[in-house]
Amino acid sequence: MPTVRDVREMAGEETITMLTAYDAPTAEIVDEAGVDVILVGDSVGNTALGYDSTLPVTVDEIASHTGAVVRGTDDALVVADLPFLSFGYDETAAVENAGRMLKEEGASAVKIESGEHTVELTETLTRVGIPVMAHLGLTPQHVNREGYARQGTTEESAEEMLDLARAHEDAGAFALVLEHVPANLAGTITEELTIPTIGIGAGPETDGQVLVIDDAVGLGDWSPSFSKQFGDVRGEMERAVSRFRDAVESGEFPADEHSHVEETVDDVY
Ligand code: KIV
Repeated sequence: MPTVRDVREMAGEETITMLTAYDAPTAEIVDEAGVDVILVGDSVGNTALGYDSTLPVTVDEIASHTGAVVRGTDDALVVADLPFLSFGYDETAAVENAGRMLKEEGASAVKIESGEHTVELTETLTRVGIPVMAHLGLTPQHVNREGYARQGTTEESAEEMLDLARAHEDAGAFALVLEHVPANLAGTITEELTIPTIGIGAGPETDGQVLVIDDAVGLGDWSPSFSKQFGDVRGEMERAVSRFRDAVESGEFPADEHSHVEETVDDVY
């Protein structure tokens, strides 16, 4: 089972794979495939909970999904995402919310959509034993301020991102997600840091790659241009559901073998 330290030490040595998962069976599949890190992303809001953004996701929802993922995982490092407003204004509340993911749900670390306001918190959490994965670039919890645009596209904002990356490394973050930033900026940040960078829409020069599981397996009805579909799970589910409907409507299902017609009520009870 990779620990936070193992993942940190993969920087520049081994390529890190990370996928999101939100339930036990999916976590089992991801884990058995040998993916290093499973992120219980607040993307659960868009993928599984039917919200338009990640903003409505609650601490209870992330906790519940984290517990399910931990129960489905033997080897991978499970990281729980801290949802919008569960951190960033009240440090005590943030420590309690983050601590709950480890104490009650069994995650090994938390991820925080980062900014200037999370440097001190990263230091506090790391000090009390809650490892932090930082996240810079496009941070969907800031959609109302930044939209979903690519970040770090000007010299000034690229410098700011590099400074924030260094500040989070100094504060103790064990890894950094870089989302939707220019590939050369991601490459520079990766070179400058000793902790690993894990990119999504950030080009090939990071230490690892992460995708939302629905995008990777082709389950969602939409996916961003920087993700790739490695399967067609949505198509497969649509075909299976149509076959079920047709079989029930035609009377083909349940057949004798599904109905245990050889057993009488007396045999059963
Ligand atoms: O919530 C999430 O799934 C994420 C990944 C896209 C990194 O933050």
